[in-house]
Amino acid sequence: LFSNLPTIPPDEPFSVNAAYQEDTHPKKVNLGIGVYRTSEGNPWPLRVVEDAEKTIYEMKDHGRHEYLSIQGDQVFLRLAADLVFNFDSTTKDRERIASIQTVSGTGANRLGAEFLSRYIHPRPQNVWIPDPTWANHHTIWQLAGTSSSSSTPSIKIKTYPYYDSNTGGFNYNQTMKKLSSEAKENDIIILHACAHNPTGADPSIEQWENIAQLCKERHLIPFFDLAYQGFASGDVDKDGWAIRHFFQAGLEFCVAQSFSKNFGLYGQRVGALHVVTKAPSATITSTGHDKDPGTTEDVLATLCHLVRGEYSMAPRGGAEIVRTVLSNDGLRQKWVEDLRMMSSRILGMRRALFEELVRLGTPGDWTHILRQIGMFTYVGLSENQVAAIRERHHVYMLRSGRISISGLNESNVRRVAMGIDDVVRT
Ligand code: LMR
Repeated sequence: LFSNLPTIPPDEPFSVNAAYQEDTHPKKVNLGIGVYRTSEGNPWPLRVVEDAEKTIYEMKDHGRHEYLSIQGDQVFLRLAADLVFNFDSTTKDRERIASIQTVSGTGANRLGAEFLSRYIHPRPQNVWIPDPTWANHHTIWQLAGTSSSSSTPSIKIKTYPYYDSNTGGFNYNQTMKKLSSEAKENDIIILHACAHNPTGADPSIEQWENIAQLCKERHLIPFFDLAYQGFASGDVDKDGWAIRHFFQAGLEFCVAQSFSKNFGLYGQRVGALHVVTKAPSATITSTGHDKDPGTTEDVLATLCHLVRGEYSMAPRGGAEIVRTVLSNDGLRQKWVEDLRMMSSRILGMRRALFEELVRLGTPGDWTHILRQIGMFTYVGLSENQVAAIRERHHVYMLRSGRISISGLNESNVRRVAMGIDDVVRT
C-alpha cells in the first residue's frame, strides 16, 4: 500500500533545530530556525500577549471555543488588513480586498497558491520565486493545483536571481532583466515584503517602485509574503511600505500575512490572506445593485470554498489575542514597544557580531551583516564551512550559511565569531 511513496528530504529549519536539541555540548549555539530569543537565549512570550491572554480569560466568554465562520474572525481580519494597508475607518479602499483568516503565513501562502493556480484566468504559466528564498515557497508551489492523478504542478516554478553574493545585497539589475525578458502575462512573482528570508537583503524604495511598474506594464501578479511587519525595523509603516505602494499603484495582488514573529505566536498559527482586486465588491447601475465579475465577493466565496474543503476554518485562539491587542490603544502601544525591543536587540547583535569579526581580523568583508535587515543574514560561509562550524564549535545554522541573528547574545557572540574565524581560515 505504502511502497510507492516519494522520498521526502527532512525540512531544514526543523531538522537543524532537532539536531541542536540532541547535542549535549554545554556551549552549543542555535542560529538555525527563525524564532526570537532573549539575551539569555530563552523564548519570549511578548508582555503584551500575556496581558491580552489575561484579559481574554477574565472575560469568561462562554462562546470563546465556538466555531468561527469559514472566513474567520471578522474583527481580527479588519484589523489585520488595516495594519497591512494603513486604512482608516473612513476608507472605501477596503472594498478592494478579500481577506480570510489562515493557518499563519504558511497557510496564507498555500491558500493563495491554490487559489491562483486553480482559478486565475487566463491561467498563469509560471510562478517566479526569488533565488534564494524561504525553502517552503518551493514546497507550497510544487503542491499547488496538483490533482490526485498527477503530481506535476500546474504552474511552472521558475526562479529569479535575487541575491548578489559580491555585494551581499539585492541583485536588482539581474532580477529586472530576468523578469522583464521572461515573465509572461499573469505570471506570479513571489516577493518578500520586508526582511527577506534567508538573506536579509531588501530592495530600496526606488527599486520597489520600479518592480511595481514592471508588474503593471507586464501584467504580472505580485504575491507578497509578509512575515516580519514591525519586527524588521520596529516600525509597522516602514515594513509595510512596499505593499502600500503596490496598492496605491492599482495593482491586483496577494498578501500572505503572518503574526508568528511580530507577536511571538509561532505555534498558534495566526495569519491572513488578503487578495487585492481592482474592482469594488459591487457597483450600483441604472438597473439597481449589480455585481461585476471578479469582484472581492466572488474572490472571498472561492477562498471560503477552498478553506472549507481543507480544514473548515483557521483556529481562533491566537487570532483572538491579536484582535485584543490591535483593538485596544493601550495594548497596541505596548505591542509597539515590544516590537522595538525585539528589533533593537537584533540590530545590536548584528553590530556585536560584526565588531567581533573585525576585532579578530577575520578575512573577508563583513559589512553586509550591518546592511542586511531582520531576523536573518547570509553570513557568507560555504556548505563545508557550515558543516565544520557545527562539528568543531557546536554552532548550528542552515547549509546556505543563513543565521538567525536572534540566536546570538552577549554570552555567545564571541564564541560564534571565533567559530566563523576558525572555519574561514582553515
Ligand atoms: C524559518 O525560516 O526558520 C522560519 O520561518 C520557520 C519556518 O517555518 O521555516
